[in-house]
Amino acid sequence: MEIKKVGVLGCGLMGAGIAQTAASAGFETTVREVSEELWQKGFAAIEKSLERFAAKGTITPEQQKQTRDRLFGTTSFDDLADCDIIIEAIIENLGEKQTTYRQLDAICKPETIFASNTSSLSITEMMAATSQKRQQRFIGMHFFNPVPLMKLVEVVRTILTAPDVYEDSVAFGKNLGKVPVRASDKTGFIVNRLLVPYMLDSIRALEEGVGSVVDIDNAMKLGCGYPMGPLTLGDFVGLDTTYYIAEIMFNEFREKRFAPPPLLKRMVMAGLYGRKSGRGFYDYTKDPKNPTPMNLV
Ligand code: 3HC
Repeated sequence: MEIKKVGVLGCGLMGAGIAQTAASAGFETTVREVSEELWQKGFAAIEKSLERFAAKGTITPEQQKQTRDRLFGTTSFDDLADCDIIIEAIIENLGEKQTTYRQLDAICKPETIFASNTSSLSITEMMAATSQKRQQRFIGMHFFNPVPLMKLVEVVRTILTAPDVYEDSVAFGKNLGKVPVRASDKTGFIVNRLLVPYMLDSIRALEEGVGSVVDIDNAMKLGCGYPMGPLTLGDFVGLDTTYYIAEIMFNEFREKRFAPPPLLKRMVMAGLYGRKSGRGFYDYTKDPKNPTPMNLV
């Protein structure tokens, strides 16, 4: 089946990035949010990103306009009924996701592929909320922040995903301009399986006094050529999100490397969520950013 019409559920950071990517790649894209205000907010973020690409000459003004014209915002599930694929990027709450999928299953055409952008919840558990026929058409499509820039998409299959649906989804990932990697539905897939223990270890290193915030970040940035140090990356992803993912992974595997360190928990309890709240390992309310003063002993 050729995927032509794309639906996106949720227009937050990830949903907006996915919608932008799909529309830029030439797909008619309908984005559903709970209120018009929310999809308008997401579309404003898309516009800002397109402006950055246009200013650099990565896209022409014509491409910018075409991308805009391919995007439709809605608050109604019914507008997604004839989509070939629906990519869900709503809140990371299994119950909410299951309720949404159940509703969509009843109104979408039988061919529609359901895809979740979850980073750590089980695709199988979401899939189980849909009818037996749909279960074969259920996959994970895990994108990376910032979606318009990051080249990877993890395409995840469950034990029930039909082979042709999986191949169509991998091909769709390529048509989005991404590099798809194949993964099975094991918590964290490939990237978070490897990335989360590394990020948690960097916090443990800070707790143990191995190095300062800046030195730990510089060590990995300059010593390994990573675009960001692990603590900056934690602030970028969101420390609340990192904590949440670590908890899920620890519950699944019961291995210490996935256990959120006490410092991470305390920073989340104190409201230090990273960039989104203004402070995390660094204080973003000041320019240039400096490490947030914290009593570590
Ligand atoms: N849209 C368009 N352009 C953007 C953009 C956006 N959303 N965000 C950044 N850019 C552009 C900037 O304009 C800039 O352009 P220029 O080079 O022409 O000036 C360029 O990208 C670089 O941006 P910055 O100068 O602001 O900063 P960096 O050079 O540090 O690049 C970055 C930013 C691309 C985010 C880079 O730091 C990076 O790759 N960081 C790692 C990100 C990462 O690891 N993401 C994965 C997180 S894990 C995840 O998402 C999974 C989840 O499950 C947890």
